[in-house]
Amino acid sequence: MILELNNINKSFINNDKQSFAAVKNVNMHLGKGECIGIVGESGCGKSTLARIICHLTYVDNGNIFFKGRNSTRLKGKELKDYYKNVQMVFQDPLSTFSPRMKIGDYLMEPFVNFKIMGKKEARKYVGDLLENVGLSKEYLNRYPNELSGGQLQRVVIARCIGINPEIIIFDEATSCLDVSIQNQILKLIFELRQKSNFSSIFITHDLAIAENICDRIYVMKSGEIVEVLEENNIVREAQHPYTKLLLESSLVFS
Ligand SMILES: Nc1ncnc2c1ncn2[C@@H]1O[C@H](COP(=O)(O)OP(=O)(O)OP(=O)(O)O)[C@@H](O)[C@H]1O
Ligand SMILES: [Mg+2]
Repeated sequence: MILELNNINKSFINNDKQSFAAVKNVNMHLGKGECIGIVGESGCGKSTLARIICHLTYVDNGNIFFKGRNSTRLKGKELKDYYKNVQMVFQDPLSTFSPRMKIGDYLMEPFVNFKIMGKKEARKYVGDLLENVGLSKEYLNRYPNELSGGQLQRVVIARCIGINPEIIIFDEATSCLDVSIQNQILKLIFELRQKSNFSSIFITHDLAIAENICDRIYVMKSGEIVEVLEENNIVREAQHPYTKLLLESSLVFS
C-alpha cells in the first residue's frame, strides 16, 4: 500500500463563525500503480482532501500513512521529500504559470533549483519530457499565453512526471478543457500511467470519467465517503441514492 488515510477529519470556520466539517472520518487507500477516483459535487471536500494528502493543509485528526509510515506530521527534510513524492495537477493550468517565465524555464525550475542537474542537462531532460507528453521541443522557448489550455496542461503534467513522484493527484485537471481535448489529456494520463508506474488520485465531479480510468471510486458527499465502487460494473454496483443521482447526471451530459 502506498497511501492510507485513517479517519481523516478537517473543519473550517464558515462566514457565520461556525465550525463545519469539510472532511469527515475519511478512510481511503491507494495501492502501488493504482488509480483511485474521488467523485462528488462542488463543495463536498474533494480539494480539501487533496490538499491534506499533499500536506498543504493540516488535518485536525486522523492519520496519513505513506508507504507504511505514519506521515501525518512531517517536518524539514522529510516534508520536502514528501512534497517531491506527492505532486498535484490543478484545474486551471494557466494559474500554475507565471506569465513571463518561458515554458522551458518553468520545466527546468525544480531540477535546477534543487541542484539535481546542471542547466544544460536539465534543458535536454525537459525537452525529452515535452516529447513524452506529445509536444515538440520548440515549445521550450514559448511563453504560457502562446499555448492552449490543453497544451499547458500537458506541460504541467510533463513537469510532474519529470520529478518522478510516487503519487500524482489530478484535481479536476481536465474540467476546464473542452470535451475533445479532455479526452486527449485523459488518454495521455492513461499512457503515462502505463509507462511510469506512478499511483494516482483522480478528482472529478463526473462519475462517467472516473469510471473510465479508475480502479476504485470513492463517492464523497458533504465531506464524507458515502460509497466505494470497485472497477467493472460500477453502474450496477451503485447503491447509494447520491451515487445514482451522480450517475444519472453524468450519463445525460456525456
Ligand atoms: N481554507 C478554507 N477556509 C474555510 N473554508 C474552506 C477552506 N477551504 C475550503 N473551504 C470550504 O470547505 C468546503 C469544501 O471545499 P473544497 O474546495 O474541498 O470542495 P470541492 O469538493 O473541491 O469543490 P469543487 O468541486 O467546487 O472544487 C467548501 O464549503 C469550502 O467553502
Ligand atoms: Mg475542488
